[in-house]
Amino acid sequence: MEKRKIKDNIYWLGSVDWDRRLFDSLIPLPDGTTYNAYLIQGSEKTALLDSVDPPMADELISQLAGISRIDYVIAHHAEQDHSGTIPAVLARFSDAKVVCSAKAKGMLMDLLGLSEESFITVEDGETLSLGDKTLKFIYTPWVHWPETMTTYLQEDKILFSCDFFGSHIASTDLYVTDEGRVYEAAKRYFAEIMMPFRSIIGKNLEKLGSYEIDMIAPSHGQIYPRPALIMDAYRNWVSGLPRNTVAFPYVSMHESTKKMADHLISALVAKGVNVEAFNLTVTDIGKLAMALVDAGTIVVGTPTVLAGPHPLAAYAAFLANAIRPKARFLSIVGSYGWGGKTVEILAGMIPNLKLEVLDPVLVKGLPREKDFKALDTLADAIASKHRESDFK
Ligand code: FEO
Repeated sequence: MEKRKIKDNIYWLGSVDWDRRLFDSLIPLPDGTTYNAYLIQGSEKTALLDSVDPPMADELISQLAGISRIDYVIAHHAEQDHSGTIPAVLARFSDAKVVCSAKAKGMLMDLLGLSEESFITVEDGETLSLGDKTLKFIYTPWVHWPETMTTYLQEDKILFSCDFFGSHIASTDLYVTDEGRVYEAAKRYFAEIMMPFRSIIGKNLEKLGSYEIDMIAPSHGQIYPRPALIMDAYRNWVSGLPRNTVAFPYVSMHESTKKMADHLISALVAKGVNVEAFNLTVTDIGKLAMALVDAGTIVVGTPTVLAGPHPLAAYAAFLANAIRPKARFLSIVGSYGWGGKTVEILAGMIPNLKLEVLDPVLVKGLPREKDFKALDTLADAIASKHRESDFK
């Protein structure tokens, strides 16, 4: 694709990756993604903001055909989907300097083998003049690596946010057109990579609150002509109360845990609690991560296998522990054959989560009447905790 004009002397460059289905060999990308770079031509200097994933390098280099000079390559973030083509850009524009935070410099030297002389480091709040355009660098650590920064183009009030506020959607739309679709993709993206850093992201949001921002141009997904869409969503995901919802990942081997899951879902709904249930044998793990963004309670359903939780349930617990959702309550339900330590093992896998554990319901073999009553009691306890906590 050719480069695309955003405003006079400001261009989108980059690639639409229609085919990618997995990021970091871990994160599902059902809708592909984009790698956005931006070119800003000031009256005196020209800056390229970020680059693209290395397999897309040729596309970026061809978009730069006809550009006689690049003075600065702004590296907001060292991860290779944005930095990986910087060596090829430097090979083509040998006078260009990489502009980044001091922390990013070390990481870029480690990850890309760039030499010390390639860099200019900038402090938080420092500005760089391109003549009639001024770049202001705002450190935004942990969105989602420690070295990350964003750039505010002062004259045009555009925030170039790199991963911050991004979404994985392959599209030829330059700007957000379907806000609902982008909201969902951005929530998935937040859940998978940003949520572990909620408290520091809250501080970064406060910091950006003092800027007048007309447009947010992230490095994945489309440009936000209405920044409130994504900034309000982030504020809610980061610090809003959890919702009156149970995230319920479960797995069943011989239908006993499935019968318990069906009964618990029905009991919760009857008591006014919403449920997002995920059969872990078929679920898209990103959907579970999204449900964890605002669920008030997590219930894990698992049979006992070899004295512990089913490996898929263990994976869900490991994921929840890593992404640190704001849920307040936890319970475990499931069936066992002759014994085991499922509850103790699962509870020990989530040390990062500060959760009140509600009485688990573990059943020997098929669930019977008394077991369904115990599930009703658990549903009552969840509904009452959600009411007391004012979850809506
Ligand atoms: Fe899109 Fe953290 O790289």
